[in-house]
Amino acid sequence: MNIFQDWPEPIVRVQSLSESNLQAIPNRYVKPLAQRPNLLSENYHTKNNPHTAAIPIIDLGAIYTNDITLQANDEISKACREWGFFQVVNHGMSPQLMERAKEIWREFFHLPMELKNMHANSPKTYEGYGSRLGVEKGAILDWSDYYYLHYQPLSLKDYTKWPSLPLHCRETLEGYCKEMVKLCENLMTILSKKLGLQEDRLQNAFGGKDEAGGCLRVNYYPKCPQPELTLGLSPHSDPGGLTILLPDEHVAGLHVRGSDDAWITVEPAPHALIVNIGDQIQMLSNSVYKSIEHRVIVSPAEERLSLAFFYNPKGNVPIEPLKELVTVDSPALYTSTTYDQYRQFIRTQGPRNKSHIDELRSPR
Ligand code: OGA
Ligand code: NI
Repeated sequence: MNIFQDWPEPIVRVQSLSESNLQAIPNRYVKPLAQRPNLLSENYHTKNNPHTAAIPIIDLGAIYTNDITLQANDEISKACREWGFFQVVNHGMSPQLMERAKEIWREFFHLPMELKNMHANSPKTYEGYGSRLGVEKGAILDWSDYYYLHYQPLSLKDYTKWPSLPLHCRETLEGYCKEMVKLCENLMTILSKKLGLQEDRLQNAFGGKDEAGGCLRVNYYPKCPQPELTLGLSPHSDPGGLTILLPDEHVAGLHVRGSDDAWITVEPAPHALIVNIGDQIQMLSNSVYKSIEHRVIVSPAEERLSLAFFYNPKGNVPIEPLKELVTVDSPALYTSTTYDQYRQFIRTQGPRNKSHIDELRSPR
């Protein structure tokens, strides 16, 4: 059986290319000039970029001490309106669990290729070990491999699609994802309240706690001999609801699109998680909360690993601007879709800036 049978062309693991010590990357990974990162631009970095300081770092400690009059709520709401991106500290997840989770994935990606390929994914569900997003033949690809798995709803959770090695990894991943869901549910409550709605309004629009989706995408960015020609992940906004990213603290690489269109490097605070709004919450909130474009660059000297947890609406519930937010002065900006339908954009075309959500803009 050909394990790669459903992809439009044979799958090449970026890690294999990287480890073969080639001097020049294959053309498939070379981006058109306009999309290449300018690695010499000092602007990406904090010291020289007046905007970087503005990506807020928010202390969530008070959420867990029942202090409801939280300053953090205001800060979160402001960050989601202005940036769509923020870091959180004191978020309730232990540094040990975060470290353990990263260690598991580092070990996984360094297993022999035959073992990893036992989990090779297909575009049917994307679950498992993958090397491309999108099924268009001849597409220019990103310099990364990944692993994708479902944690919830229960109906989609299938341990046989999770890695079997390293030993006991499933227990740790289970604990990690459970904490992630808790954090997402808390954030959903805050976001609802700060829209002036019932605290469970957004959660219900996602189909309720038991039906909302939770999945993990682990991104592995191997070293790249020509990082100036390619990207680890092309510019995109996340298609789902909320994303919680556990970044690589040692290797920066995530860039967020600033208000003046310049790319801004995210420099993770110690033990921080990075939160961003996805397209579904932008649509439900009628663009009050913003889903911002981001991308990843790669390094010639170091590999990079990140864990992105996505919290998404149930696949078949209609997603459209919440009625309470639509008025004569602020008409609905988006036509109705479902997450299952919406996800097909990125699963067909791969990451493509914000073109997917723009297709759903209401005609005016
Ligand atoms: C993603 C993503 C960023 C990163 O997985 O959608 O944007 O730093 N990841 O890996
Ligand atoms: Ni993303």
